[in-house]
Amino acid sequence: MSFIITSFLGLICILNFHQFLKAEKLDVYIVHVDPSHSDDLDTFYDSFLPTITNVAADSTNSTTDRPRILHRYRHVFSGFAAKLSAADVEAMRLKKGFVSARPERVLRLLTTRSPSFLGLNQNTGLWKNSNYGKGTIIGMVDLGVEPSHPSFADGGMPPPPAKWKGECQFRAGKGACNNKLIGARFLVPEISPPTDIEGHGTHTSSTAAGNFVAGAGFFGNANGTASGIAPLAHLAVYQACENTTSCPESAIGAAIDAAIDDGVDILSMSLGGQLHPRFADDVLAVGAYRAMERGIIVSAAAGNAGGSSSVTNEAPWFMTVGASTTDRRITVTAVLGNGEQIDGETGKGFPSIEKLELVYPRGRGGNRACLGQLDPNIRGKIVVCQNGLLVDGIGSGMAVKAYGGAAVIILNTKYEGDTTYDDPNVLPAMQVGYVDGLKIIEYLDSTPNATAAMLFKGAVIGNNQAPVVAEFSSRGPSRVTPGILKPDIIGPGVNILAAWPVSVENPTNTKSRWNIISGTSMSCPHLSGVAALLKSAHPDWSPAAIKSAIMTTADQVNIKGNPIEDEQLHTADVFSIGSGHVNPTQANDPGLVYDISPDDYIPYLCGLNYTNQEVGIIVGRKVDCAKVKSIPEARLNYPAFSIVLTGPTNQFFATTRTLTNVGKPNSSYHVEIGSTAEGVFVEVKPEVLFFQKLGDKLSYNVTFTVIRSTRKVTNTTTQTQGFIAWTSADYSVRSPIAFVI
Ligand SMILES: *[C@@H]1O[C@H](CO)[C@@H](O)[C@H](O)[C@H]1NC(C)=O
Ligand SMILES: *[C@@H]1O[C@H](CO)[C@@H](O)[C@H](O)[C@H]1NC(C)=O
Ligand SMILES: *[C@@H]1O[C@H](CO)[C@@H](O)[C@H](O)[C@H]1NC(C)=O
Ligand SMILES: *[C@@H]1O[C@H](CO)[C@@H](O)[C@H](O)[C@H]1NC(C)=O
Ligand SMILES: *[C@@H]1O[C@H](CO)[C@@H](O)[C@H](O)[C@H]1NC(C)=O
Ligand SMILES: *[C@@H]1O[C@H](CO)[C@@H](O)[C@H](O)[C@H]1NC(C)=O
Ligand SMILES: *[C@@H]1O[C@H](CO)[C@@H](O)[C@H](O)[C@H]1NC(C)=O
Ligand SMILES: *[C@@H]1O[C@H](CO)[C@@H](O)[C@H](O)[C@H]1NC(C)=O
Repeated sequence: MSFIITSFLGLICILNFHQFLKAEKLDVYIVHVDPSHSDDLDTFYDSFLPTITNVAADSTNSTTDRPRILHRYRHVFSGFAAKLSAADVEAMRLKKGFVSARPERVLRLLTTRSPSFLGLNQNTGLWKNSNYGKGTIIGMVDLGVEPSHPSFADGGMPPPPAKWKGECQFRAGKGACNNKLIGARFLVPEISPPTDIEGHGTHTSSTAAGNFVAGAGFFGNANGTASGIAPLAHLAVYQACENTTSCPESAIGAAIDAAIDDGVDILSMSLGGQLHPRFADDVLAVGAYRAMERGIIVSAAAGNAGGSSSVTNEAPWFMTVGASTTDRRITVTAVLGNGEQIDGETGKGFPSIEKLELVYPRGRGGNRACLGQLDPNIRGKIVVCQNGLLVDGIGSGMAVKAYGGAAVIILNTKYEGDTTYDDPNVLPAMQVGYVDGLKIIEYLDSTPNATAAMLFKGAVIGNNQAPVVAEFSSRGPSRVTPGILKPDIIGPGVNILAAWPVSVENPTNTKSRWNIISGTSMSCPHLSGVAALLKSAHPDWSPAAIKSAIMTTADQVNIKGNPIEDEQLHTADVFSIGSGHVNPTQANDPGLVYDISPDDYIPYLCGLNYTNQEVGIIVGRKVDCAKVKSIPEARLNYPAFSIVLTGPTNQFFATTRTLTNVGKPNSSYHVEIGSTAEGVFVEVKPEVLFFQKLGDKLSYNVTFTVIRSTRKVTNTTTQTQGFIAWTSADYSVRSPIAFVI
């Protein structure tokens, strides 16, 4: 999911020289300006454009010298996106009010059982209390939507709230809005307003706020009634991507700008791909700040890169969402010749296979991936294939089928661990986790005449190991802001069944249009839906309060009651789960919240040593950090702690946190401290907080001390964890602590 951003400017200059200034290459630049120099933004923005330009370079319009501005931003930041040459930018730098310009980057999308898995059931509990998210508007920055899907039908939806100012820009015949789908804007200029051909936007939109639709399923499996997390919330779609791998920053900025203006309550952004940009240099982060400032909750995908320090969308004003499994698995059981039974997953059912020969052929080059030329002897057999970078499960199945194999068992690599997918395989197939794969190999090694049967069991609900962190879910520590723990939360993102523009099984069948896909793209809209439920139940809560409620009430244990595990089936650490797995019902009644007002981020940004200009770009006005009492990152009133205390000597860090009572009057909370690391001490003062009234704010001090002499290993950097929980008769308000020491 990483991106290499290449600038060809140097090369183009040379070409231009040799071609005698024939045509200058134009790139899309993101330009920031200082609006205090003008009252009329349009005229002001235009004043930065070159008056005479080299024509012919812009292939989409070679007859004009003013095709330049793609988007004029008003809310997301002061500036515009325009097609410019390097020389144009140089000329612009001299103009009054110029702040900065850089070529845009291109991001990408981070590609139902989940509501009831999250404890949401019709006519009871949170769904009832929050009225299913009624009255809230979720803005989806994505690929658009297929409006004809029943998930987006009008049925039973009230009209949008009076504050809604959005528009419906479907081209005639391409769709229409209604009380569910209240807005649609298309911000990518090069493509005509399409429906969502690739499906990603349809899937994420229906996950956040799709209607109840009976008869959902995938190849006859996982049958049931599908619904989004906030089935009575309204949806507004902002198409900012050309396809799943191309979301230009200029369009993302325009999408956020329009969403702020239109009046959305929640922004759902299942996209990313830029690794560790400074916030001022990241349209997503700046846009999310401006949205947050207007009271909009911004839920964003953590990324699909897996591995340490891979998390994206790191700014503290994002709700950054990692991905985990649900308790539903479309299950196949392999019965090995020695009687051992091993479970795996597939997306497509098949008549169970009686005992057949089981083989593990070597491909060309001796590797065990089923790729290219295979041994013709696999005909009629069950073939074991190593999953890998070069070929995935579906590809392995295609290769085995081409050679006449009867079925395929796909073994995960160690890295992929236990994360398996409900893929629509082309022949009877199952994918098994790494540890189970080792058992199959052990059996193959034990006998020259290995056999297996494969029994298809369909969707099995109740896997009590769930939720398990997905192999691909990106992790902390954050590179950009190590003093903030990221991701914030995990939610369902593996094998998620949701709406699709076409039927995956049968393109001519327009009735059953569903697909099962995975990614933090899928977990993000789950949390957007939860935010809508909370916003509907607590319209006066700030974005930070809603995020705090979600974080401090998150689950630490799986259905079985054991600590949540990662794909390696080890206890998951705070860098993979953040504050834990979302528990919407608990989040609705958290007792206390850690609130943050937009201005609180200014001392934090100055403390990150951002320049005044950078801070100004983010917050949208002039800031002089010399006059701001800046704070270290970890002093932000965040609902989690990330404490970096490296160095050869004893270390000490102190901070104050403030809690706001949103639970019950006259409640007394006492602190509980969990710290597992040797030589690390956490002290909280006072140890008891008494809140008399609702809305009361009380502070506590916490100090973190690392005493080197009591640590056996003194000179290596260690990641470890603990927690601080405030507990009353009715509530437990828990914050994880991540230590890098
Ligand atoms: C080029 O720009 C002119 C002026 O804005 C516009 O009238 C014309 O339709 C454009 N042509 C194309 C091919 O986009
Ligand atoms: C799911 O629904 C399809 C279509 O109605 C049906 O053919 C199939 O048998 C059902 N599967 C299960 C497991 O109930
Ligand atoms: C996605 O869009 C970009 C930009 O138009 C294009 O270069 C790329 O080939 C497209 N990718 C796919 C998979 O269609
Ligand atoms: C494996 O099969 C071969 C040929 O059918 C047979 O000769 C041999 O005894 C078998 N070996 C074992 C260990 O069952
Ligand atoms: C900011 O600069 C100060 C002073 O040089 C330094 O102590 C601090 O560690 C820096 N903070 C970050 C986040 O880089
Ligand atoms: C809280 O306690 C005070 C003092 O005991 C009492 O006067 C007040 O009525 C209580 N408030 C509530 C809402 O119970
Ligand atoms: C918390 O810390 C502040 C500043 O260091 C101090 O003034 C205050 O007395 C402390 N409060 C407690 C309860 O220790
Ligand atoms: C850290 O410890 C390792 C052995 O554990 C040692 O080789 C290394 O020299 C030590 N480094 C320092 C800076 O003390």
